[in-house]
Amino acid sequence: MTTFLLNRTRVELAPIDPDLTVLEFLRQDAKLTGTKEGCASGDCGACTVVVGEHTDTGLRYRAVNSCITFVHSLAGKQLLTVEHLAETGQLHPVQQAMVKHHGSQCGFCTPGFIMSLFALYHSDVAPEREAVLNALSGNLCRCTGYRPIIDAALALLEERHGDAFSEQAEAIDAELAALNPSMNDSGVGFWQPRNRAELGQTLAAHPEARFSAGSTDLALEKTQQVKELPALIDLTGVEELQQLSVDDAFIHIGAALPYADLAPALLADYPEASEWLDRLGSTPIRNRGSLGGNLGNASPIGDTPPLLIALNAEVTLGSQNGQRRLPVSELITGYRQTVLADGEWIDTVHIPRRPDHSTLRAYKISKRFEDDISTVCACFYLERDGDTVTEFRAGFGGLAATPLSLTDWSQALVGQAWSQLDIDAIAADLASRLAPIDDVRASAQYRVTVTANLWRRFHLESSPSGVITRVSNPGAYHHA
Ligand SMILES: Cc1cc2nc3c(=O)[nH]c(=O)nc-3n(C[C@H](O)[C@H](O)[C@H](O)COP(=O)(O)OP(=O)(O)OC[C@H]3O[C@@H](n4cnc5c(N)ncnc54)[C@H](O)[C@@H]3O)c2cc1C
Ligand code: FES
Ligand code: FES
Repeated sequence: MTTFLLNRTRVELAPIDPDLTVLEFLRQDAKLTGTKEGCASGDCGACTVVVGEHTDTGLRYRAVNSCITFVHSLAGKQLLTVEHLAETGQLHPVQQAMVKHHGSQCGFCTPGFIMSLFALYHSDVAPEREAVLNALSGNLCRCTGYRPIIDAALALLEERHGDAFSEQAEAIDAELAALNPSMNDSGVGFWQPRNRAELGQTLAAHPEARFSAGSTDLALEKTQQVKELPALIDLTGVEELQQLSVDDAFIHIGAALPYADLAPALLADYPEASEWLDRLGSTPIRNRGSLGGNLGNASPIGDTPPLLIALNAEVTLGSQNGQRRLPVSELITGYRQTVLADGEWIDTVHIPRRPDHSTLRAYKISKRFEDDISTVCACFYLERDGDTVTEFRAGFGGLAATPLSLTDWSQALVGQAWSQLDIDAIAADLASRLAPIDDVRASAQYRVTVTANLWRRFHLESSPSGVITRVSNPGAYHHA
């Protein structure tokens, strides 16, 4: 049984297909057709809805892509669609702002924009352009153009005051807390264990089941490859996989914790990863996607392995029989293959705390600034004692069937004087070790050239050269 609130109405669903998406439920079953289907792959934002969740600090609203979110994952949550915003007969302030600023033409994208803006309205961000661009990073509009929508959002944030949802927030939060299900066994191939022990038991009983965390990769197997997903274990309710803790040595991140929740701790130690994180998918993708999903997917173009390898991160694998811990660089063994054995899951990622005198850069090359997968991702990490290199590591994505660490190349720099390096020779050596493929994103030659140039850029940015390495600020590229 999956129980959730559809606005204020309690919905109890059983049995439903494990891979029924929220978008399918809304349009086909609930007949709420305000939520649109554009791409069915998390790219366009036409299907954006808002999910309300009980947290330690009260009710929290986040935008998600309903086309790649499974209905079962709504258990214990509140689902809001564009239909719910004007229920009192009056347009919601978000809708009023869009009308006032002429933020809609054909209207197909508008419900999605409205819901992203609704989540922004209920966040605590300052009324700044960068925050608006971030909130809208998962929404495409092909006819209005973005300026009127951004104007509407900025005006909205300036004039932000409560709405009917703020007034009901406490009551809804209490209702959701009471809904919080015990182990959700739908009886039809969907299980939602609440802790590690239940996860181990569930996996032992249903070894054929796939893990589902944010489903931002997994759901595309259904919507793009037309595969059935008949048995799913949802990891988002497993308490230990949602935890984050920081000690002197590591940031410990539960594998199913969404990017949106791990961002503050990661960026507190490594603020240079901020743009990399902003460019990992979009706000709705980061509201659901997780490190465990990115690593478990083992895609050669996943963005987290290059960074985690450069940071020398480790990963704990869990199982009913115990745990084992290994470097992230040893996790992925081939194209979409990992060392995970039957009965194991990715449990926790451990990122070393930042030492003094270290430098990090995480570069992403992609066709769109946001919400696009990498053509090349290159991350470099450097520690120096004076001018002498004491640690140097790199992680690369998009250049081979697996993420690369190229330790022979990086280790050769240790002990050398950073300011005296022969940059071109090192770039040529790097290029000679790469054998990427041509594909729709870029030619092999482009990938090799850009990677060697990213090394040059890292050296420039880590030296007191004062050379300008950016032609513009990041926000200038948003929604290109
Ligand atoms: C529009 C869009 C944009 C995207 N942009 C980016 C991007 O810029 N960079 C990028 O790297 N990725 C991107 N992605 C891919 C995806 O969002 C990420 O890979 C994300 O981290 C996946 O996490 P998830 O929790 O959604 O995984 P899921 O989809 O739930 O799972 C992915 C796979 O991992 C397995 N899995 C999940 N959790 C675990 C676990 N704990 N242990 C073992 N196996 C597990 C699942 O069974 C599944 O096979 C994008 C996806 C979309 C749809
Ligand atoms: S329909 Fe395009 S993101 Fe969901
Ligand atoms: S108003 Fe037509 S796509 Fe945005």
